[in-house]
Amino acid sequence: MKITSADFVMSNTEVSKCPNEPLPEYAFIGRSNVGKSSLINMLTGRKSLAKTSGRPGKTQLINHFKINGNWFLVDLPGYGYAKVSKRDKNTFQKYIRHYFLQREQLLCSFVLVDIRHRPQKIDLDFMQWLGENNVPFAIVFTKADKLKPKVIEEQVAGYLDTLLEEAWEEAPPHFITSSSQKTGRETLLGYIDGINTSFFNASTT
Ligand code: GTP
Ligand code: MG
Repeated sequence: MKITSADFVMSNTEVSKCPNEPLPEYAFIGRSNVGKSSLINMLTGRKSLAKTSGRPGKTQLINHFKINGNWFLVDLPGYGYAKVSKRDKNTFQKYIRHYFLQREQLLCSFVLVDIRHRPQKIDLDFMQWLGENNVPFAIVFTKADKLKPKVIEEQVAGYLDTLLEEAWEEAPPHFITSSSQKTGRETLLGYIDGINTSFFNASTT
């Protein structure tokens, strides 16, 4: 898929104030610093569309970016950042959870995990929660530039095994990416394009 335009639309904490257009939407979620904002920049080919930082906790709001004039990418705050106060954590959880539960336009969420790490409880719990609430998701492994191909394969296989051992009957779709090397860009955009096409075909028939 070619990206012809990518524009920041708005930032919010309330799902009711998010763009009121019936367009397909895809959200990026995962631990702070995993690379959500960087991935949005990599996919759109816009270097600083979403704000990134080497320090966790950069993204604090629900950020909508309109792509090619007819679908949205959504950058979300990360979870699991130890320095956030308990009160902020609770607020975060509330509005993010509302977003996932109430946003009807959300066709697929991408849960990002750092390919270097073993499965973390916080990510597994979040995926479990998405599953229980029938929110479709795929896994995006990030920072693949940090590992050799053989280790990447082992890490991914190990991760998917853990999911199957935990509770899942089948592994969700998954993608291997590196924002610094643009790995996985075409595959991920192709996946989104496929969902967009089904959505627009269904709404015209
Ligand atoms: P929060 O907004 O704080 O939740 O973080 P985030 O998940 O949006 O992460 P962000 O995109 O801001 O990136 C965090 C750090 O990881 C930055 O220093 C990025 O440069 C780095 N980073 C992101 N993606 C990659 C990648 O694919 N490879 C490498 N090597 N570094 C990356
Ligand atoms: Mg961010």
